[in-house]
Amino acid sequence: MLDPKTIEIIKSTVPVLEKHGEAITTRFYQLMFGNHPELLNVFNHANQKQGRQQKALASTVYAAAMYIDNLEAILPVVKQIGHKHRSLNIKPEHYPIVGKHLLLAIKDVLGDAATDEIMDAWEKAYQVIADVFIRVEAEMYDQAANQKGGWDGFRNFVVDRKVVESDVITSFYLKPEDQKELATFQPGQYISILLDIEGEEYTHIRQYSLSDAPGKDYYRISVKRETGSDIPDGIVSNYLHDQVKEGDILKVSAPAGDFVLDTTKDTPVVLLSGGVGLTPMMSMLKTIVEIQPERKVTFIHAAQNGNVHALRDEVEELAKLDNVTAYFFYDSPTEEDRKNNRFDVEGYVTREWLKEKVEIEDADFYFCGPVPFMKSINSFLIDLGVSEEKIHYEFFGPMASLV
Ligand code: HEM
Repeated sequence: MLDPKTIEIIKSTVPVLEKHGEAITTRFYQLMFGNHPELLNVFNHANQKQGRQQKALASTVYAAAMYIDNLEAILPVVKQIGHKHRSLNIKPEHYPIVGKHLLLAIKDVLGDAATDEIMDAWEKAYQVIADVFIRVEAEMYDQAANQKGGWDGFRNFVVDRKVVESDVITSFYLKPEDQKELATFQPGQYISILLDIEGEEYTHIRQYSLSDAPGKDYYRISVKRETGSDIPDGIVSNYLHDQVKEGDILKVSAPAGDFVLDTTKDTPVVLLSGGVGLTPMMSMLKTIVEIQPERKVTFIHAAQNGNVHALRDEVEELAKLDNVTAYFFYDSPTEEDRKNNRFDVEGYVTREWLKEKVEIEDADFYFCGPVPFMKSINSFLIDLGVSEEKIHYEFFGPMASLV
């Protein structure tokens, strides 16, 4: 427990941190990667380039500073980050490295304003915050390694099948190379894939949601090929699409993540996805069909058109069941799509449509997709009176705020 004086200093520096937070974390990464280039094997370079990681870390540091005398209050956030850290194999010995460089960066950016007293308080506070992460993550490592079929770190998986699902999305069916048991997971969870690509200086790690129900002898991921001018071309997704073949080996960490379907409930479920955000929703849909066949589920998917719409046949097959209803939204359908009645609604999901078509009362809502899609859905649901505890969502990359 920190002494009252330290707590006071930490809390009084929150506004300063908020002002300089991003400059501090940007400097922190420069310093840390300068001294520990090996950590570039773990961090996502694309997120770094976009500054997304800086923002995620900065906002967590403010939050932690604000709640330094009551860190229990931010435990849900710590757990969410802890899942990501566990999936990346971040260990206790990494924390002092981050701490040292964070302190150096604070000193660098704040200069004389960062007195010895302030630096001393921050050193103590970082230790307290780091201890909470380390404790939460230790439980997660223990659970991942000791459950049936579980493991520690990265395990070799064979690409058993590679299936093209649309012009941009391809599924990979992964089986453990050791042919031993495979841990179960909760629908909505993701795995990390670690790739050592020839010609690349560092390894790359990416998270992909599992897109099939648990309980099979494989894990399935469905990967979108990332291209476009505003994001650094997805080195990993393009490599998976173009280079990885059936029979190849991929390094995979055990399933992680707290965006999961609550199967202890039997309330109606509405699953909404945009683009490749459908992957965790597929896992949730298939799980409901398999283990809660009486539970009502509405699957709403928005895609540009039929060419980029993955896993449609699978959903259409499930939608024949009494408890499943599916709707497809295309914002720019092709002639082919029109001719073959491939979609239900042209355009985007709207508040009015949701109000008319979806039984809002009692339902739990899960959604994933591009940020503008998620922002609209979130505001529609709030508008329609859905309470916060019934709204569940996940971002593709580093978490951000929807408001
Ligand atoms: C991700 C905070 C310690 C490595 C994250 C995220 C946050 C965060 C907010 C984003 C989570 C998300 O995407 O959902 C923190 C805080 C720490 C800490 C507050 C200290 C108390 C560490 C340490 C390491 C580390 C010690 C290893 C050296 C990473 C990596 C990611 C990550 C590699 C994923 C980033 C990416 O791939 O872009 N962390 N972290 N973190 N953290 Fe930490």
